[in-house]
Amino acid sequence: MAEQRARRRPSEQSGAEVSEAQIAVHWQEEAYFAPAKEFIAQANLTDKGVFKRFSLDKFPGYFKEFAELLDWYKKWDKIFDGTNPPFWRWFVGGRINACYNCVDRHLARHKNKTALHFVPEPEHEAIQHLTYQELYVRVNEFAALLRDFCGLKAGDRVTLHMPMVAELPITMLACARLGVIHSQVFSGFSGKACADRASDSESRVMITMDAYYRGGKLLDHKEKADIAVTEAAKDNHKVDKVLVWQRYPGKYSSPTKLVEGRDFVVNDLLPKYRGKRIEPVRMPAEAPLFLMYTSGTTGRPKGAQHSIGGYLAYVTWTSKYIQDIHPEDVYWCMADIGWITGHSYIVYGPLALAASSVVFEGVPTHPDAGRPWRIAEELDVNIFHTSPTAIRALRKEGPEEPAKYHYRFKHMTTVGEPIEPEVWKWYHKMVGKKQAVIVDTWWQTETGGFLCSTVPGIHKMKPGSAGPAIPGIHPVIYDEEGSELKAGSGKAGNICIRNPWPGIMQTIWKDPDRFVHQYYSRYCRNRKSKDWRDWPYMAGDGAVQAKDGYYRILGRIDDVINVAGHRLGTKEIESAALLVPEVVEAAVVPVADPIKGKVPDLYVALKPGLDASEEIAKKVSASVVSQIGAIARPRQVIIVPDMPKTRSGKIMRRVLAAISNRQDPGDVSTLANPEIVDKIRTAHG
Ligand code: WT7
Repeated sequence: MAEQRARRRPSEQSGAEVSEAQIAVHWQEEAYFAPAKEFIAQANLTDKGVFKRFSLDKFPGYFKEFAELLDWYKKWDKIFDGTNPPFWRWFVGGRINACYNCVDRHLARHKNKTALHFVPEPEHEAIQHLTYQELYVRVNEFAALLRDFCGLKAGDRVTLHMPMVAELPITMLACARLGVIHSQVFSGFSGKACADRASDSESRVMITMDAYYRGGKLLDHKEKADIAVTEAAKDNHKVDKVLVWQRYPGKYSSPTKLVEGRDFVVNDLLPKYRGKRIEPVRMPAEAPLFLMYTSGTTGRPKGAQHSIGGYLAYVTWTSKYIQDIHPEDVYWCMADIGWITGHSYIVYGPLALAASSVVFEGVPTHPDAGRPWRIAEELDVNIFHTSPTAIRALRKEGPEEPAKYHYRFKHMTTVGEPIEPEVWKWYHKMVGKKQAVIVDTWWQTETGGFLCSTVPGIHKMKPGSAGPAIPGIHPVIYDEEGSELKAGSGKAGNICIRNPWPGIMQTIWKDPDRFVHQYYSRYCRNRKSKDWRDWPYMAGDGAVQAKDGYYRILGRIDDVINVAGHRLGTKEIESAALLVPEVVEAAVVPVADPIKGKVPDLYVALKPGLDASEEIAKKVSASVVSQIGAIARPRQVIIVPDMPKTRSGKIMRRVLAAISNRQDPGDVSTLANPEIVDKIRTAHG
């Protein structure tokens, strides 16, 4: 009984009644795979001594090695200032510019080298190769436009709603050059989602593109900007200018009209700034570089604020030693730049190292599952980075495809969700041709860069496990009572990080209380303490550590569903459903999905007297898509006569999740309405 109560407590504390971690699959321990000798021979990091050098007793001094990978206008006075926990300050007193580090500093040796390969989705369109010199020119001209036409200056925020095109990193770097804080919203998100973020960040300028290709169609994207500006106005936020890039320069490809005096076509304005060069602004290391909004436990998305110096140092070090990027590599991360993975490991990390980074516009399985391997062959990509969702889809649609193409990967990454050992093995054998090392990297929007992963030139790989913590990161797993689980106990608990690190977000934009509450309050030993040791960072994931020190991540412990490697807040989805006038109650639960990992099932109850209909279900689904975006589209909308409820009236999501996942809902006798369970099961089908 006591044990049962202890087990129930996590849900009560976090407010979630069912978590991903609770429905996680428990895979068997797998046998190790050794990295290929050829890989080790060329790897950037093979010295096991690194873990001694980066031991906890040497914190924070070892992070100097991270910052030393960058060029500074002025060196920092202090590596770490922890006097105001948990608002850590890194490289205090240092002056730096992120754009300079990703572009200018490479010109001396690499100006003719490709910085970005832009791969359009239509296969008949040629791949565009942008050298570092060209990137330098385009970034400078666009920075001049942002400064002189838009009046933007250091510290201002700008909302970007751009697809996967070379103009996206150009825009980000132009902002960084001026010290302007960019906030890129995933292009698949709706106009409304873009509005919420523009309004929260108080962006006066929005930057978008007229259209882009996705799944064989040229989508109208500009229409979302109109919705975004209108919706933001309802929230009393005025967007003054919308800059519109053209997918085909010189040609406007959207059926949506431009609004006079507000919308401006970038390519019409640019000629005025031809040849302009803008001195990079020498920013304090601690100034924000960008905001990345992510879903949390309450409805509102939160803006994770990342710094210039700490963040850039962290992603550069991890790109060099975990991604093993050398300047001669061709590196392809198939994530979207609209997520943190793209910021850290398509744009900032690889470009800081003078790598050639691939930006691919489209869907990996379009027009067929051979497409990624044709791109890899054509560009001679040798480092490949993607998510389990993409790997599952490519395996399902073209298990034999990789063998038909002559590319050779030395290194591959998986990120964003747990990867099933079976899928990992296909990735290793077929995609990696048994030659590539694989790193399974565990981290989050908030953490800036990797937390757990094998070091590819040092550790053996174990399918289904992320691996040990990376050098300098010191995790701990707590049980529900706040006691530490013994290292390697094999027991599940909440994974936290004992020490601060330079890549951790600085705060939630405009909401420091929520920052403290969400990530630190649960396991903080003493709120008054000025000692970082009392402030472990709570990631919000369930995890187990095996005897060998490898961590296996089980999934979220809070009200968040990880769909295809991206977090969606259950509250956000439920609020969207409640906008449909017929709906009185909504509850969303994660369902295991063979391709996407998890997908949302949405249960709704209607106003008394209304009958369930296909039409209402469609309206609910459409509302979710228009409020958040297609990524949140429920697998099913299930209209139920009532929700399963406790006597105090709380919806028991655990019961709904069990029905959706075809599991046993367990003891339902304590419900106020136990008879409803069978009716819901019938409605679910
Ligand atoms: C959540 C963070 C990491 C950048 C992209 C997603 C889950 C992430 C792994 C992994 C198992 C993983 C966690 C985490 N997750 N990587 N290698 N194995 N789970 O960023 O949207 O902030 O999501 O993704 O649950 O908390 P995000």
